[in-house]
Amino acid sequence: MNNTWSVILAAGKGTRMKSSLPKVLHPLCGRPMLWFVLEAVQNLTCRQVVVVGHGSEEVRTTFGEDLLYVEQEEQLGTGHALMKSLPQLPEKGEVLVLCGDTPLLSEDLLQRFLNHHRQQGGAATVLTALLENPSGYGRLIRDEHGRVQEIVEEMHASSAQKQVREINTGSYCFDLAALKQHLPGLPKNEVKGEYYLTDLVPLLLKAGHGVDAFMLEGKESGYALGINDRLQLAEAASVLRQRINADLMIGGVTIIDPASTYIDAGVEVGVDTVIYPQTILEGETRVGEGCTLGPSSHLVHTLVGNGVHCRHSAVYESRLGDGSVIGPYAHIRPGSNIDRGAKIGDFVEVKNSYIGPSSKVPHLSYVGDAHIGAGVNVGAGCIVVNYDGVKKHQTTIEEEAFIGCNSNLVAPLTIGKGSFIAAGSTITRDVPAEALSLSRSKQEIKEGLARRFLKKKGE
Ligand code: UD1
Ligand code: CA
Repeated sequence: MNNTWSVILAAGKGTRMKSSLPKVLHPLCGRPMLWFVLEAVQNLTCRQVVVVGHGSEEVRTTFGEDLLYVEQEEQLGTGHALMKSLPQLPEKGEVLVLCGDTPLLSEDLLQRFLNHHRQQGGAATVLTALLENPSGYGRLIRDEHGRVQEIVEEMHASSAQKQVREINTGSYCFDLAALKQHLPGLPKNEVKGEYYLTDLVPLLLKAGHGVDAFMLEGKESGYALGINDRLQLAEAASVLRQRINADLMIGGVTIIDPASTYIDAGVEVGVDTVIYPQTILEGETRVGEGCTLGPSSHLVHTLVGNGVHCRHSAVYESRLGDGSVIGPYAHIRPGSNIDRGAKIGDFVEVKNSYIGPSSKVPHLSYVGDAHIGAGVNVGAGCIVVNYDGVKKHQTTIEEEAFIGCNSNLVAPLTIGKGSFIAAGSTITRDVPAEALSLSRSKQEIKEGLARRFLKKKGE
């Protein structure tokens, strides 16, 4: 690996995506397309060179300065892109050249490709695939003995060549010395006005070098998919999703319906967790062991402890402690920390709040900018009034307090330890520990008046 480099071509605009975002930054399972290519080569090559051009600033800021970037200011084709990277590459060794838009080629597959290249000992090996429908790709043309002759782009192919089902994946392995010698002599394709990397094949052959192909067949041929438009983007996402789900299931997670479960690359899930249908786990989410998630739950950048139950709920940038119970139909917004054994029940919204161990907010409440201690009970329909139209204010509810149903807690406010708020109260002043507080208009009784009202209604 010490003298195996990789170059990833990622300067193209991706016109067919019809997007202002550079093609290689389009997300697949939560990561930019290029991330998957880099993941696949990281352990195989000592240094990764990325050729950037269109949207290069965005690509650089996304991937940081660990990579070696080469600018291709004008996108004059794949051959031109590789030429730009030549000064960065050593004189000897080998280089794996990949396109930034083929994210399904895995490390294991590329390792076999490299092994094949080394065994053959030629100057170049092309990674090809046998496809049912080869349209849109360059075709690998072989002579009558099956030897590699050239690669013809679809737009230049004769109708006989278009029948060829072996396509160029856009991935190559080159001997560096041969590449450095011959790439600068690449002719420009006059029709397109571009330098095609594929045209290096006949140049190498003419100079007496060996050029070979390593062909993907069967299921693996699908991994050659190059993403040029959003249909192919969705197709690739589906393959990656299946891989992610399969890895988790093999690792001890039950996924009831993998086809309707959407888990981002990099999400971790512990053993014996069961994921019900229509569940989406995104971003930097980590889930512990023995949880049940879903049906229909959406967790983004969320840390989930062990034994958590979360049904029909949305949780964003928050933490769910061990044994907490969420939902159905809860909305937990960023900055929330639901501690162990706490319950956030149906139709409850929590925002930027801490809910202490074993505390309960079981029904129809809003809790915003609050710190709730352990063992607190918040009755149905309680509202933390955190916003006065100008500023957000903080509410503290100390441990073991009891908040009666349908109370309004007008922040800023501290509700003392072990205090009791009577149902239907609007609390605007701090309540000391152990106190009872009630604030509601007195109930009146008018004997016999009901009949008069009901009569009126019936007239
Ligand atoms: C290319 C191949 C084709 C192959 C297909 C596989 C050529 C001429 N054709 O076609 O044989 O079947 O890939 O998917 O090589 N890029 C640059 N600079 C440029 C042009 C492109 O960096 O000036 C990058 C793009 O960002 C992209 C990759 O090279 O990641 C491939 O370019 P693209 O335009 O998608 O080539 P295809 O037409 O798909
Ligand atoms: Ca492409």
